[in-house]
Amino acid sequence: MILRVALVVIAGLVTACTGVEVPVVPEGVPVTYAEHLEPLVIARCLSCHTTEEPEAQLVLEPGIGYGEMVGRASIQVPELPIVAPGDPEGSYLWRKLNHDVEIGRGMPRTVVGSIRLPDEEIDLYRRWIEDGALP
Ligand code: HEC
Repeated sequence: MILRVALVVIAGLVTACTGVEVPVVPEGVPVTYAEHLEPLVIARCLSCHTTEEPEAQLVLEPGIGYGEMVGRASIQVPELPIVAPGDPEGSYLWRKLNHDVEIGRGMPRTVVGSIRLPDEEIDLYRRWIEDGALP
């Protein structure tokens, strides 16, 4: 437990302070989860969404995160899927990232509170959903 708290604090501090490298995906090239998005999810979300006590029962570990999000219902707002391919506004993930939520906080949470990701990063999630949320 103490180790887990320490991990969350360290990961939160590192990502809040340094950010991550956001891939540049040329126009016309569809954004895919494995190639473009998963590295960002791993950097920003894994401190809380691992198989060991996952927050909101959401596991975003490599190889698992895609199936946990695409087409699966949110536990907070069960009428919404976490990711609805082609429909950002109908995707609870987008609402969490855009801080447009009534339940819980916007994502990601960090030690300095809930932060909104830099535009280039959040735009990539939106583009991924618009492009059909490809694996
Ligand atoms: C510091 C811990 C922490 C980090 C980092 C974090 N989350 Fe969360 N997440 C939570 C907690 C706690 C909840 C439940 C309470 C809430 O929504 O605020 C949650 C809930 C969620 C939910 C709602 C799940 C559902 O079924 O309704 C989604 C989606 C989500 N997180 C996505 C993400 C994504 C994507 C990232 C990375 C960009 C991320 N989270 C980073 C702690 C975290």
